[in-house]
Amino acid sequence: MAALRDFFISLSENQTLSNAAQQYGLKLGAQSVVAGTTIEEVIDSIRKLNEQGISCTVDNLGEYVIDESEATKAKEDILAMIEAIQVEELDAHISLKPSQLGLDIDIDFCYDNLYEIVERAHEYGIFVNFDMEDYDRLQPSFDMLEELSKSFDNVGTVIQAYFHRAKEDVEQFKDFRLRIVKGAYKEPEEVAYQDKLDIDINFIELIEYHLAHGHFTSIATHDHNIIKHVKYFVEQYDIPKEKFEFQMLYGFRKDLQLELSREGYQVCVYVPYGEDWYGYFMRRLAERPQNISLVTKQVFNK
Ligand code: FDA
Repeated sequence: MAALRDFFISLSENQTLSNAAQQYGLKLGAQSVVAGTTIEEVIDSIRKLNEQGISCTVDNLGEYVIDESEATKAKEDILAMIEAIQVEELDAHISLKPSQLGLDIDIDFCYDNLYEIVERAHEYGIFVNFDMEDYDRLQPSFDMLEELSKSFDNVGTVIQAYFHRAKEDVEQFKDFRLRIVKGAYKEPEEVAYQDKLDIDINFIELIEYHLAHGHFTSIATHDHNIIKHVKYFVEQYDIPKEKFEFQMLYGFRKDLQLELSREGYQVCVYVPYGEDWYGYFMRRLAERPQNISLVTKQVFNK
């Protein structure tokens, strides 16, 4: 099981395969979990979810960019998405990855790109969430977020429960809107819990802390046991439904998304779109080998 996870994570980091995948459009079953390659397709997907009472956080796929023009193009695409959210009156906000916007090129260049995005979103009252990537990129991303938050109040980030430092981070960022997740990258034991139970325990503690002491909480998981626990916790402590939401990935556990929405909980779906779907898709296969059935279903057309 762990070997399979490592295998898919190493595939997710393979740039040659990623480039090759882009040539072939949405294949290998990725179309089940990626909302399209064009802005028109993703608008359509968002609208359908909005009609079901579900809000969206939209991710223009791409990461680990080392070419300045590619990072600038990604910024332009995200700005176009912000305009589309405003013009089309969609119930949606932005998720982005600092490494797509130049973190690996030059931190000032990346910061300027982020500034422009957050400033434009701020004009329209649209929230921008920084997705969190691997450990090496964590502190520089937090530093840029803190700096931006001196000028704008429409930014927030992700806390990954597998990191030993996550409790300190959740305390430090308690005044921010936070998405709390288990963590999707392969990290060494010096910095991250390896055992599923340890991660789950920390995940629950972080969620409870932010619900009780912090700003808005996005509980991002497909784990029904944790969702059940959160429902019990918010009821016990009288935490209003406006203070939190459940987040899930596009294409995953659609029945559960609808069930929660019908029960009156806020539900937000993470909607990825674009050509650069390969790394994202491989991480989903690493998380849950059963997701491979998505692939086989597509390949064998069943
Ligand atoms: P996990 O994979 O631990 O599964 C636990 C149990 O839940 C399973 O045993 C099964 O019973 C049930 N289950 C899970 N998936 C199911 C399915 N598809 N169908 C049926 N049952 C299922 N990571 C990161 O490092 N940085 C980030 O910025 C983000 N952002 C992000 C946003 C959103 C909206 C989500 C949902 C997730 C992320 N992640 C992330 C990924 C996250 O860190 C984590 O890797 C995945 O969510 C997988 O963990 P889960 O908690 O969903 O369940």
